[in-house]
Amino acid sequence: MAYPVNPAVLQTDIVEHGSTFDHAILDFSASIICQPLPLEKLLTGLELHRYPDSESTAFKSAAAGFTGLKVENILPGSGSSEIFLYLALAYINNESRVGALEPAYGEYRRVTQLAGGTCLTFKLAENNDFKIDLQLLQEWVERERIDVFFLTNPNNPTGQLLKQDDLLQLLAEFPRVLFIIDLAYHDYTGEKLDYRRLTADNVFLVHSLTKNCGLAGLRCGFTSSTAENIMNLNRIRLPWNLNSLAQAAGCWVLENHALCLRKVSELKQEADSLRNFIAGSGYSTIASQTDYFLVKCENPDFIASELLKRGIKVRNTASQGLPGYLRITVKEPEQNLIFRQRWLEICVEIGCNQSLRLNCDKNKIR
Ligand SMILES: Cc1ncc(COP(=O)(O)O)c(C=O)c1O
Repeated sequence: MAYPVNPAVLQTDIVEHGSTFDHAILDFSASIICQPLPLEKLLTGLELHRYPDSESTAFKSAAAGFTGLKVENILPGSGSSEIFLYLALAYINNESRVGALEPAYGEYRRVTQLAGGTCLTFKLAENNDFKIDLQLLQEWVERERIDVFFLTNPNNPTGQLLKQDDLLQLLAEFPRVLFIIDLAYHDYTGEKLDYRRLTADNVFLVHSLTKNCGLAGLRCGFTSSTAENIMNLNRIRLPWNLNSLAQAAGCWVLENHALCLRKVSELKQEADSLRNFIAGSGYSTIASQTDYFLVKCENPDFIASELLKRGIKVRNTASQGLPGYLRITVKEPEQNLIFRQRWLEICVEIGCNQSLRLNCDKNKIR
């Protein structure tokens, strides 16, 4: 019999993330840019047999420069996932009522379970294209007596953004609620955030550098808040939590952020174009502020498996609490062209629109 474990562990879902490592599959399920790094330069002088700088000093300076905050306002993380765990350990206990959007990213629920808290969700309305209705959200936070709220902005998988003024209003309205604002996809929106105005006792901003800056494999991110909040979180942080190469690459992407932003904006345009194309094939889609968007399908499993047979992986959002939809994340233009062709083949095969046959020939990839 297994050794008795902390009961909260048994309540916690096991991590499920569906990355594919098969290069024959085009992965339209994950949002990641491919920003080439000057690896030789970054590796020069890195002594990989030695421990990394446990304080990530240079990386914190780069993050402070990037946000216009001070190094005391920055805590590094091996991706934002590590930071969510630290935040849950620091601020959630078995009396906590923890809010999140529905649908949303699943890690908030997992870290809440692990810390013994209760996760409650604010359901986004399909008939409002899953937009975040500020008034309704505020009423809900009040009614449900929420202590901690995880807000993905823009949200995954819906791609909807709560603009900075609305966000500031929400944060000011509930000074006793701790807001953890996940900015993993914010670069796609083109909105310029004023990080100083967003620094408050009841707010942690979580900045991932994995998707928008292409460091998913290296694992890198940070959170920003008031110096006192960061000092408390630092008590939990593991020593050497950012490896040496992640620290060097993190500095580089923050100092060369304009390059990443250019890629991000190209992908956003690709997403708009692919979404229009899919809408033109007779499917209803939801406009998004990011490089992914939702497609409503009667049978998402069937379409996903037909695409997979043709070498394309997409995400069925049922796993995120939204049945009846696929989430499609665009890739580079040539890959998006292949996607169009495969999509049309399926449309023709299931006879959803006979006039597509013509389009299908036009889009043929050889
Ligand atoms: C909304 C959201 N936040 C955070 C993450 C994880 O980011 P990181 O790679 O920085 O841990 C994901 C990953 O899919 C995500 O969708």
